[in-house]
Amino acid sequence: MKRMLSGIKPSGQLTLGNYIGALRNFVKYQDDYELFVFVANLHCITVPQDPAQLKKNLKDCIAIYLACGLDPEKCTLFLQSDVLEHAQLGWIIDCNTYLGELNRQTQFKDKKAKGETNLTAGLYTYPCLMAADILMYDADYVPVGADQKQHVELARDVAERFNNRLGDTFVVPEPVVAEVGAKIMSLSDPTKKMSKSENDDKGCIILLEDIAITRKKIMSAVTDSLAYVRFDPENQPGISNLLTIHSAISGESIDSIVARYEGKGYGEFKKEVAEVVCTEIQKLQDEYKRVIESGIIEKVLEDGANKAQRIARKKLNKVQRKLGLDIFRK
Ligand code: TYM
Repeated sequence: MKRMLSGIKPSGQLTLGNYIGALRNFVKYQDDYELFVFVANLHCITVPQDPAQLKKNLKDCIAIYLACGLDPEKCTLFLQSDVLEHAQLGWIIDCNTYLGELNRQTQFKDKKAKGETNLTAGLYTYPCLMAADILMYDADYVPVGADQKQHVELARDVAERFNNRLGDTFVVPEPVVAEVGAKIMSLSDPTKKMSKSENDDKGCIILLEDIAITRKKIMSAVTDSLAYVRFDPENQPGISNLLTIHSAISGESIDSIVARYEGKGYGEFKKEVAEVVCTEIQKLQDEYKRVIESGIIEKVLEDGANKAQRIARKKLNKVQRKLGLDIFRK
């Protein structure tokens, strides 16, 4: 069975973008792959976090994994910092990544270009930690949204370089980016990615927010004055984004939705999108409550960390041996 791994960084609350671009796909894959999904908490602290809020976001993230249908019997769910090997391999990857490669990573470049100050060294090197997360487990595939593809490609480059230099050590991973929904856009500015970190309350649907608020955000999503429902991301980014959201959740093709709305107005269309989204999120929230009340999270994380750590330890030993770091281990 091929191995697959992915993670989410809950530096804020999880969004509909996380759900469509990542989470939902993880659930589909758990029957066909040996799946590892983790909470990327070490990545959260690349920007300052309020400790109490972070703790809540981490617990919510794992609860949402379970609520979405990730089954600990079928996949390994764990908290990144429970497996200390991640930070150690992260350092080793730091030492095997060129500054030029990090300078080309768009996420850091964008933040710097926006003039954000007090950017940390961790934020700059976090693609190395992400490469460590992936390479540690010999993941064949890494399902991610479009914005993370570049980071998986860096992991590939690092793995290939390391293998060439010191012999077969890492599996070279492949990013898996869904055809529909790999980049859900903001509802208030559909030329920008829907993101929890952009201070974009109206444009970003939070999975655990009040459903009435979600409905309102969709009904007031920015569209255009062309007045026909058509998939044309360049000229009608708002409508195209809503079509993508609908199709990703309902499974109906974009063409079929467009055909049903011929000659009809945006109001009616938005109502249907809101219904599709709210029904899905309501189900998720009901499950989330059940998971939180069940008290199973601690045990799930304990089992997941044990399983993940066994693999991580072995890989780290191998890497350290190859590098000549160990004196007596053969
Ligand atoms: P993060 O937490 O920013 O996002 C988690 C996943 O959600 C996807 N995503 C989106 N997809 C579609 N539309 C959107 N608007 C949207 N917003 C987010 C992301 O592409 C991602 O797949 N560095 C990673 C976390 C990470 C990781 C890893 C992922 C750490 N180590 C190893 C995979 C493998 C991150 O910050 O994702």
